[in-house]
Amino acid sequence: MAPTRRDFLKGIAASCALGGCASPEKPEPAGASGAPPPPGELVDFPADLRAPGGQAKATLSDGSVVLLWNDEAGLHAVAGRCTHKGGELFYDPERADIACPEHKSRFYPDGAVQRGPAQLALARYTVAEEGGRLRIAPRA
Ligand code: FES
Repeated sequence: MAPTRRDFLKGIAASCALGGCASPEKPEPAGASGAPPPPGELVDFPADLRAPGGQAKATLSDGSVVLLWNDEAGLHAVAGRCTHKGGELFYDPERADIACPEHKSRFYPDGAVQRGPAQLALARYTVAEEGGRLRIAPRA
């Protein structure tokens, strides 16, 4: 007896279930491998940040402002708003620290308070170039 159309389709389904339908040349779509996506988010790489001595701010999708600076050691990132009352922070390359012009708090580059009135350290982030953009992620 000749195989029916149903038998033929069952055979194809069984073959696919065993992996016979996979195409090794066809790339998997991003995220389809089951690997978790990299942490953080991509933002544009500000032109002001590309050379040592540069600094810039980036706003993340949750509204967080991140202060970025570039020195001989590379790129760095901490929260861009003061933990006292939200003053806009900047990196002071002469003192190699972070300053708040509002009430003169100062922070070490790792975000720790150097001088109040701020009492809380700044949130820290990792930052790395990725495909011409910057990936910024909260640091644990
Ligand atoms: S807002 Fe920064 S020291 Fe007060």
